[in-house]
Amino acid sequence: MTIETIGIVGCGLMGSGIVEVCARSGFNVLVGEMNEDLLKAGLGRVRKSIERAASRGKISAEEAEATLRRIRGVADLQDLAPADLVIEAITENPEPKKMVFRTLDAVLRPEVIIATNTSSISIAALAAVTGRPDKVIGMHFFNPVPVMQLLELVRGILTSDETLATAQEVGARLGKTTVVAKDSPGFIVNRLLIPYIIDAIKLYEAGLATKEDIDAGVKLGLAHPMGPLTLADLVGLDTTLAVADVLYEEYGEPRFKAPPLLRQMVTAGLLGRKSGRGFYDYRE
Ligand code: 3HC
Repeated sequence: MTIETIGIVGCGLMGSGIVEVCARSGFNVLVGEMNEDLLKAGLGRVRKSIERAASRGKISAEEAEATLRRIRGVADLQDLAPADLVIEAITENPEPKKMVFRTLDAVLRPEVIIATNTSSISIAALAAVTGRPDKVIGMHFFNPVPVMQLLELVRGILTSDETLATAQEVGARLGKTTVVAKDSPGFIVNRLLIPYIIDAIKLYEAGLATKEDIDAGVKLGLAHPMGPLTLADLVGLDTTLAVADVLYEEYGEPRFKAPPLLRQMVTAGLLGRKSGRGFYDYRE
């Protein structure tokens, strides 16, 4: 099947990046959100990012306009029916994701692939609530989506070769390099990333060094683009915690156990860049 229209459910931090990349790559995009306000905010973020790309000369003004014309918000998941592929990118919580998968399964044509941008939740568990488990796959993007080259594809136990091949083809059309991982919590990247971020938070919690020095140590000593605490703020502390909890529950290894400071910060609403404050203050 030729993929022309991609449906995206969720237009938050990751969803809006996925919307942008899909539309910039020439796909028509239908975007669903939980309510009108979230949809408006998400589409506003997409518009701003596309306009910024145009103002920095990465795309022409005509391209920016054509990209924006390819994006349409929908009020209801039923309106995603024309989509040839749907990518779910809502909050990292299994129950709401299952609800979306059930609805999509009822709405979409039987041959349509349902992908999830989950960073830790089992593909098999999401596939099991649908009547098309062979057409369910993980398409895990990285933040900021327009910049990061990687698309991690996650193959559930029942995902077919054909579904994987289609996802690889779409990944290539999006200009991403794909890697394939088995359906095991954290897949490749988060299984390595989360213990690293957890360790950095523990160092900070223990007063070993200032947050600035921990970040500078990694940035300048290991040539990472940003230090671990800055990166946690970028990913979102709520997402970091949710992924850590899934990994700890699954593997039971202390290295995945979220430190108290991370949980306290999330409870206090310090979620990182997206809320204006995390380890650092972004309110100005
Ligand atoms: N959208 C679009 N473009 C962006 C952007 C955004 N949100 N943020 C930065 N850019 C672009 C800039 O426009 C700039 O482009 P140019 O060089 O062509 O002008 C380029 O990226 C570099 O940006 P800056 O000069 O502003 O800043 P940096 O050089 O510090 O780069 C960064 C910013 C790209 C975010 C870089 O610091 C980086 O790569 N950080 C690591 C990000 C990372 O590890 N992400 C993965 C997180 S894990 C994840 O997402 C998985 C999840 O499941 C947890």
